[in-house]
Amino acid sequence: MKIKGSTNVVALIGHPVEHSFSPPMHNAAFKSLKMDYVYTAFDVNPNDLENAVAGAQALNIKGFNVTIPHKIEVMKYLNEIDEVASLIGAVNTIDFKDLKGYNTDGIGAVKAIGEVTNIKNKNVVIAGAGGASRAISFYLAKYGADKLTILNRNVDKAQKLADDVLASGLIDDVSSDDIKNMDLKDVDILINTTPVGMHPNVDDVPIASAEEMHEDLVVFDAVYNPNETGLLKEAINVGAKPVYGIKMLLYQGAESFEIWTGKKAPIDVMEEALRKTLGF
Ligand SMILES: NC(=O)c1ccc[n+]([C@@H]2O[C@H](COP(=O)([O-])OP(=O)(O)OC[C@H]3O[C@@H](n4cnc5c(N)ncnc54)[C@H](OP(=O)(O)O)[C@@H]3O)[C@@H](O)[C@H]2O)c1
Repeated sequence: MKIKGSTNVVALIGHPVEHSFSPPMHNAAFKSLKMDYVYTAFDVNPNDLENAVAGAQALNIKGFNVTIPHKIEVMKYLNEIDEVASLIGAVNTIDFKDLKGYNTDGIGAVKAIGEVTNIKNKNVVIAGAGGASRAISFYLAKYGADKLTILNRNVDKAQKLADDVLASGLIDDVSSDDIKNMDLKDVDILINTTPVGMHPNVDDVPIASAEEMHEDLVVFDAVYNPNETGLLKEAINVGAKPVYGIKMLLYQGAESFEIWTGKKAPIDVMEEALRKTLGF
């Protein structure tokens, strides 16, 4: 990649950012399409967030990805927030053309699941009620899921998310329960957004076992390290369809790429770069 006077800059902001997988994924995409763009990362202290956004505008930076801890706070400094991002209450992508914020995490998960099944009219159980669950839940509603059950250790938190999703008017059957009460009998899609099974705790008891699953189930694990989590192994054992966490990373990146550039993201190139960085 040749950096020239004309090179367009996009970047990740967060605190910290040094372990991000996004720079190799996006730079591989720009290179494959021979685009005069570079993707870098900036560690931004929370106290400097407003200056970082104003500075990026002044420097004609084209776009940001936004990660922890800035996803909520940064919305204050934007002109416009995409409708679903606004319901979610967090953004992970900024387009400086119009200083507009988007949330591509949830759409990333929905597209990952969309590789094996259609979300429309499905009965979905989602475990966890944190940031990832919130982003995914609103997109499940937007893409026509019929029924959503949010399971969490802290049931009040799950109920708050259920209330918010219901209030969006995008879906009319949303409920919450304790994660201990997992019942997958009539469920089409199970989504894990808890860190259970994440490296280094790869031997944690998964949130659901093969005995609780059935072969028509689709199981998506947002955990991407390891690639094949204990939960996905249980799914494979019972003949259910696994969807790997890496695909959510991939499709959220692809969606951001398309927002900034208006060009179709080269999915295969991005996936290859991501796998190389993650080592699988
Ligand atoms: N593939 C991707 O692109 C992608 C993107 C985003 C996140 N993720 C992954 O998704 C996971 C969650 O991220 P997040 O940002 O949503 O985190 P978060 O906001 O901290 O939420 C974590 C959720 O998991 C629950 N939880 C934590 N430890 C648990 C345990 N031992 N047993 C049962 N439930 C537990 C918490 O329940 P309580 O409320 O009861 O504490 C909470 O609902 C992480 O593993 C992250 O790496 C993946």
